[in-house]
Amino acid sequence: MNILCLVAIILLGYFGQDFISNVGSSSTQAPFPFNESYAIIVLTGGLVFGHSEYVTKPIRKDVVISNGKILSLMDPSRTLAFIKSMQTSQLSILPISVQEQYIIPGLIDVHVHAIGGGGEQGPYSRTPESRLSELIQGGLTTVVGLLGTDGVSRSLSALLQKMKGLEREGLSTWMWTGSYRIPIVTLTSSFEQDLILIDKVLGAGELALSDHRSSWPSKSELLQLISDARVGGMLSGKLGVIHFHLGSGASKIDLLWQILNETTIPIQHMYLTHMSSRGDALIEEAKKWIRAGGMCDFTADSDVLNETETVETLNKFRTEKLPLKQITLSSDAYGSFPEFDSTGRLVSYGMGLPDSGFKTIQKLVLKYSWQLEEAIQFQTINPAIYLKLPGKGLVAKDYDADILVLNKTDLSIRYALSKGQFLKTPTWVKHGMFEK
Ligand SMILES: *[C@@H]1O[C@H](CO)[C@@H](O)[C@H](O)[C@H]1NC(C)=O
Ligand SMILES: *[C@@H]1O[C@H](CO)[C@@H](O)[C@H](O)[C@H]1NC(C)=O
Ligand SMILES: *[C@@H]1O[C@H](CO)[C@@H](O)[C@H](O)[C@H]1NC(C)=O
Ligand SMILES: *[C@@H]1O[C@H](CO)[C@@H](O)[C@H](O)[C@H]1NC(C)=O
Repeated sequence: MNILCLVAIILLGYFGQDFISNVGSSSTQAPFPFNESYAIIVLTGGLVFGHSEYVTKPIRKDVVISNGKILSLMDPSRTLAFIKSMQTSQLSILPISVQEQYIIPGLIDVHVHAIGGGGEQGPYSRTPESRLSELIQGGLTTVVGLLGTDGVSRSLSALLQKMKGLEREGLSTWMWTGSYRIPIVTLTSSFEQDLILIDKVLGAGELALSDHRSSWPSKSELLQLISDARVGGMLSGKLGVIHFHLGSGASKIDLLWQILNETTIPIQHMYLTHMSSRGDALIEEAKKWIRAGGMCDFTADSDVLNETETVETLNKFRTEKLPLKQITLSSDAYGSFPEFDSTGRLVSYGMGLPDSGFKTIQKLVLKYSWQLEEAIQFQTINPAIYLKLPGKGLVAKDYDADILVLNKTDLSIRYALSKGQFLKTPTWVKHGMFEK
């Protein structure tokens, strides 16, 4: 009895200290003391969302993190004894009270122009590179980088280096080879080789279709690429995908329907994006595509431009009971958002931001009363399963400890962990020099 009391007091001390130091800390700051590395971190008292492949209710579990992974989702009645035993065995353990807060998987963004994009209005309109601090603010722990309109003055080698850099800074990264146009640009001289030999390459894209900036590939040219995606995917143990950028041209996805009808290539090798952003005709195609078993990516609405079409499309598809598992959400961050009039003249110019996916999730829950477990799937489990991203998309045993802790009232991010580390802006950004 006495011993139990003592343990309780010691633990209260731990929790109390962490709790106090967490209050008032800004969104993504790690708790004190964050500058040590702990053998074990335990998030106690939170409600865990996204713990299963299926959309299911959250569960009250404590999350035990070790070595970058989720060691277990622990029944809260066992946690005190567990912490005690770790302390007895001299393992450094950091319990963090996240009482009444929401724990969700870190977000996956399949469409980020990590080295910038754009340039549609000449050299001065090139958009800037991504910044880690902005990606963190968007709750992103997994990022797939890509080139866009410009496959000449932006290179895949620069993109690959950037993705490796972001990985070193704590995120998990992949990339698409190619750009808008054909013949596609590659790292090794062939798309199939890129896919098979370079781990970070998941496929090619964003290859533009039905867009005035597209190189208007013929059916046979497309077929060649899609078949390379299939075979290269098989040989590399990846899915192997062409990520198609859709413009607002009247031809929509006609060529892809023809390829599907005339060949035996499965639909999963064609991954369509911007499907909610080009008007009703393309949204209808998205519906048909999903019903045919295909995967669509929606570009998150831009706050700055007051866009609403993606949230509206998601609400509509949900009402119509379409399989939401076949939809992902991405930010198009650092890509340019040029608007053209009917004569092709540029009328406005903007840039995607990496928090737009997270803001869309917040809006679905706070404004349209979606369950959080339902809203997060578009940036967690759906892309993770579709693109076969190992260890991603769930807060579950043996998965990577990619975790966001959210304030349950306004869903703002309190902590962001990636592979068990608290994400923070690297100090050299502030001081002009590298950390050791
Ligand atoms: C860690 O941070 C605390 C509080 O900011 C500080 O007192 C301590 O000296 C730091 N330790 C190291 C090793 O940097
Ligand atoms: C492809 O097949 C579907 C279903 O059989 C049909 O509805 C559609 O018109 C065909 N599309 C093309 C482009 O051949
Ligand atoms: C977006 O809406 C706000 C508030 O209604 C308005 O002030 C702003 O001009 C709008 N922005 C655009 C790009 O339409
Ligand atoms: C959560 O957000 C609400 C509203 O913004 C705020 O009043 C509250 O203090 C926050 N809670 C925590 C634990 O940060």
